[in-house]
Amino acid sequence: MKHETIEKSIPLMAILTFVVVLIGGIVEIVPLFYIESTIEKVEGMRPYTPLELRGQDIYIREGCYNCHSQMIRPFRDEQERYGHYSLAAESMYDHPFQWGSKRTGPDLARVGGKYSNLWHQAHMKNPRDMVPESVMPAYPWLVENDLEYGNITKRMEVLQLVGVPYSKEQIENAVADLKAQAIPDSDSDALLARYGEKVTLQNFDGEPARITELDAIVAYLQVLGTMVDFSSYQAQAR
Ligand code: HEC
Repeated sequence: MKHETIEKSIPLMAILTFVVVLIGGIVEIVPLFYIESTIEKVEGMRPYTPLELRGQDIYIREGCYNCHSQMIRPFRDEQERYGHYSLAAESMYDHPFQWGSKRTGPDLARVGGKYSNLWHQAHMKNPRDMVPESVMPAYPWLVENDLEYGNITKRMEVLQLVGVPYSKEQIENAVADLKAQAIPDSDSDALLARYGEKVTLQNFDGEPARITELDAIVAYLQVLGTMVDFSSYQAQAR
């Protein structure tokens, strides 16, 4: 009977509906103010090295995200094809993140280490040389263009501003670290001390004497999905 009163009075119904939604909202929102982060911390995650960071810039400039996602969803078919599903922590230092929703080509979230640098060099120059039926465009200019890195320090400072934990030392040595990673046989001890032993130092572009845009993009592709060690990773119980 009481319910009938509510149903017949639109203002009363509206007020009570509002109250119910308000309670639901508070229950959902308030806890967010009391936890430090909504992203579960995962061992192994580090900010990109300066070279990898420039690689991501070029990835964005060339519009690779128009055909490639970087988010493996927790479905069996995706995990069998691409590996462990993506964790929120794995893209927490990406600004902007590259999750994407269009997959003309495969997901690239774990492409790091899947192919050799030589494969990437040939594939970027002309995808058809490696995969005859590929519809991916060729990017032959990447190896011709010298990499611009004049603003790398500023770029890292801005990322620090939005929460990427670059240290003062990492920012001050950005140019030296970029060169150390891109030029084979250079002194890389300082770079490894700053970013960890797992950083790959290779001849990414097949042009040992020059630092090209291909160096940066291959360094970036080769690190994707490799920071977290999934042989020892265990999701936290909630
Ligand atoms: C028009 C869509 C398109 C664009 C744009 C595109 N790709 Fe692709 N990509 C593909 C397709 C299709 C494949 C699968 C065939 C192949 O390997 O070439 C692919 C494959 C790849 C692979 C191999 C992935 C694997 O697991 O086998 C990499 C790496 C890659 N692309 C990187 C890039 C990068 C870097 C860019 C930007 C510079 C880019 N792609 C732009 C369509 C695209």
